[in-house]
Amino acid sequence: MRRRRYYTGRDFHRAINIEELRGVARRCLPRFSLEYLEGGAEDEVTLRRNRSVFEEIAFLPRTLVGVGQRDLSTELFGTRIALPFVIAPTGLNGMLRHRADFSLARAAKTAGIPFTLGTLGTAKIEDLVAEVGPVWFQVYNMRAREFWERLVQRADQAGCPALLVTSDAPVFGNREWDVRNYAAPAKLTFRNKLEVLLHPRWLLDVMIRQGGPRFENLTEILPKGDTRAVKGAKYVTAQLDPTLNWDDVRALRKLWPRALVVKGIMTVEDARTALDLGADGIVLTNHGGRQLDGAVSPMEILPEVADAVGNRLTILIDSGFRRGADIAKALALGARAVLLGRATLYGVAVGGEAGAAHALKILRSEFDRVMALLGCTSVRDLGPHLVRWPTHTDRPSSLRHMQGTAGMR
Ligand SMILES: Cc1cc2nc3c(=O)[nH]c(=O)nc-3n(C[C@H](O)[C@H](O)[C@H](O)COP(=O)(O)O)c2cc1C
Repeated sequence: MRRRRYYTGRDFHRAINIEELRGVARRCLPRFSLEYLEGGAEDEVTLRRNRSVFEEIAFLPRTLVGVGQRDLSTELFGTRIALPFVIAPTGLNGMLRHRADFSLARAAKTAGIPFTLGTLGTAKIEDLVAEVGPVWFQVYNMRAREFWERLVQRADQAGCPALLVTSDAPVFGNREWDVRNYAAPAKLTFRNKLEVLLHPRWLLDVMIRQGGPRFENLTEILPKGDTRAVKGAKYVTAQLDPTLNWDDVRALRKLWPRALVVKGIMTVEDARTALDLGADGIVLTNHGGRQLDGAVSPMEILPEVADAVGNRLTILIDSGFRRGADIAKALALGARAVLLGRATLYGVAVGGEAGAAHALKILRSEFDRVMALLGCTSVRDLGPHLVRWPTHTDRPSSLRHMQGTAGMR
């Protein structure tokens, strides 16, 4: 009996790690919704690499340093946050759970970390800020330029402390599960309709209580202002502007008064350009393996980027982070904080705000324990001297020299 409750998701708090939370989500969501959350592009090579890369990086712990008091906080764009985590922008969260953006934002606020609302989010930016307080905002490149600018101005007026411009989606990645799950635009296959009926709790929560997810920030550009995601998803995809380029980042820099972050950087050259154009930060990311299949993991380029721009630009990173140890590895190699995508989505999908909070609690506890076992009392203590990466041949000089020494970032 207990086991069944666990499988239906009510007992999500018994999940002791993110992988177990994922197991609960797999049972709670209908197949097309789960694949939306989990899937990667094409053969999902990037998706798998995002996880396997962490196994190659091993820790070199220090010992006998006294770790009774540990400070997990860090500073991000002039604000102290309780943990080096940020909830990543993910569109269509309302497909997973009623008011999922609100739940994620509240869980983030309670944990003392930022939440990022996406352009394709299912909460209206003004409503979210009024209800929960300031959140970060992410913009996609929209063909309707005046609308794009207005969106940025709305985020400014709402007082968002940071704007992320996503640069790795000039077109959407080839997500084949999406093709398979729909018989025609907005029409699920027969099998998926059946799946919906087999998940009555999801049906009630997402489709009946909420009336289905809506692109709440896109009313102006959707035909007849119909924000229903089921109707508008294909139309919205076609509104992404593939001409997005560095001039747009330059324009955003003039438009946006607070922290500007380019999300989608994967090379040292692009990191340098972002810096030259006045960005405050970058997110090293391959979009969680949903865009270009066959890309490297951002962890593989982190040391070089940190070497080149780390002391002048805030480096954030995401893609594949599921353990506190993964986060510690990224911070050791030069990232200031980690964006969480699917890890907190699993949580919100199974338990709303409490589920997202549970995911954050797991990661916090793992990260804290790893810090202690590494001999660190503050995130500033994490440095390249604490990791070894035998198969990474392009390690920059700073990393090679610091291996096994007591050097600090
Ligand atoms: C379901 C889903 C939707 C996403 N939607 C967006 C989006 O609208 N905008 C964006 O910049 N990134 C989006 N991303 C990418 C995330 O911001 C982040 O880069 C990625 O999830 C990190 O990988 P992880 O899920 O393995 O942690 C999405 C990711 C997922 C899983």
